[in-house]
Formats: sequence, structure tokens, C-alpha cells
Amino acid sequence: MPQRLATPADVATALARVGGDLSGFAVDLHWYDVVGSTNDVAAQLAAAGARQGTVVVAEAQTAGRGRLGRGWHSPPGAGLYTSVVFRPEGRTVTSVAGSAPGGSAASLLTLMAGVAVAEGVERATGLRAGLKWPNDLVIEAPAGRPWGARRKLAGILAEGATLGPRLDYVILGIGINLRPSAFPSALAAQATSLEEELGRPADAATVLAQCLAGLARGWHDLAAGRRIEVLERWRERGAASFGRPVAWQGPGGALEGTTLGLDDDGALLVDRSGGVERIVAGEVTWL
Ligand code: BTN
Repeated sequence: MPQRLATPADVATALARVGGDLSGFAVDLHWYDVVGSTNDVAAQLAAAGARQGTVVVAEAQTAGRGRLGRGWHSPPGAGLYTSVVFRPEGRTVTSVAGSAPGGSAASLLTLMAGVAVAEGVERATGLRAGLKWPNDLVIEAPAGRPWGARRKLAGILAEGATLGPRLDYVILGIGINLRPSAFPSALAAQATSLEEELGRPADAATVLAQCLAGLARGWHDLAAGRRIEVLERWRERGAASFGRPVAWQGPGGALEGTTLGLDDDGALLVDRSGGVERIVAGEVTWL
């Protein structure tokens, strides 16, 4: 395990400010200067019994990873690199008030995370980000440019582990671009940061605290059965999931269609010459 550091004072202050909204999340906060991946550290803690709402933050990652086997560019100072332990089936060692037994909250966890982080960023900075299915935070392209010209502000990676037949834990890893950095050239045109969008530095401690409070709220919404409300909040930010041309990889090769929105299980519906495809995982490209 890398060496754990004290929580920085500005982060402790920002967490105290959101206080009760955290409802038990971030009571256990593990801060590091550099790790391989915060998701790996959080998974080790979860495997050793860490409770739901345990948070791992690193100032840099040497092996940050994204969805679908991609890397996540994680130099010091350029981003917020955070992972949170969830126990959707309620196997908490020390349980968080309101955590639901049963798997009902698990299925929409990643969509909820997109909503929570988008709302947290907006509360902390005033910047409104959209959502690209399933849970990328994106800044819409300027008027007149195609939606495909949007830029990515943050990404979320959900990784779970089972214990026999049941889900033991899910780690939600969140990467938020704070300021411009030397992105690999393939990413430079598609990435943006809070500082670029706001035209001023963002208060990273407040962004972190508000995102964690958003995750705590979102969890309790799901646990209380308010999944439709969570989906509605996703849909309000997910304009591109309605009536836009997309491509994706089907079992027999590349397919194209027009988005029809999300169903109530969070799958992306796509109209394909009369038939409706239900996409539950994988990469969708906006054309
Ligand atoms: C994606 O959009 O592909 C998901 C990116 C997730 C990046 C975060 S940074 C913190 C956590 N640790 C990782 O290695 N990945 C996630």
C-alpha cells in the first residue's frame, strides 16, 4: 500500500461545510500523493472490509485507467482522482444509515454517479455539464457545431467484485479534469477542464466535497426506490440521447441508428431502420 497522508486542511473544511449531506460518506477518507490507480487502492480496502462511502483520493496516478481498457491521464495537479466504495447488496461491515439490503440500487449506480458528479460540479462552480451515455460529463459544442464536437470534462469507471453468487462491492472511480494539461495528442481535441470552461481556477476541495455529497444523496435516492427521479435527472442532462445519429459495435460488426432515449433500466435505446436496439454496455460513438 502507498503511504497514506493527512487530509489537506482545505478538503477537511469543504467536507465540513457540506456536513450532513454526506450522510456517512467520506468519514473514512484515504489521501495519497501518488498511487497506481485509486480504484485498485479502494478495491483492496473494500476486500479488507472497508465500509460503504470509504473514499480514496490521490494527487496523481501512475496507472490511472478508463472504461474499455483505456488509460486515464493522471498527472499531479491536473485532475481530481477519486474512488468511492459502494456495497449495493448491503454487506457493510459498519453500515451507513439508509443503505439498502438487496440489489435494487445496484443496477442504476453508474448512471446515478454521472448525475451526482454533474450536480456536484454545478453546485461547486456553477458550470453545467451534460451527460453522454452512460456517464461521461461533457461540455456541449458551441452553437452551430455538431454534437460530436463536445469535449469531455470527467469520466466514471465502475468496477465490481463478487463474493460467490453475490455482489460484494462496487468501486466508482471518478476522474475530473481540473486544469489544462499536456493530454496525449489523441485526446487533446476531445478533452476540456474546469479551468478552461470557467476561465478561472476551480476550488478543487469544494468540487470534491460537493461530488461526494451528490453521491451520498444519489445513493439514498436509489435505496429509497427513487430510481425514476434519478433517471429523469440524467435525461435532463442527456440531450444527445434523444434523436441523434450514433454508431456502435454489434455482434456482427458496426451498426448505426438514431438515439431514442433511455429506458427505465438505464439502457440506451436506438432506432435502427424500424427495429429498436437496447444497448446496455460498450462504446457508442456520436456521428
Ligand atoms: C472513463 O471515462 O473512461 C473513466 C475514467 C475514470 C478515471 C478515474 S480517475 C480515478 C479512478 N482511478 C482510475 O484508475 N480510474 C478512475
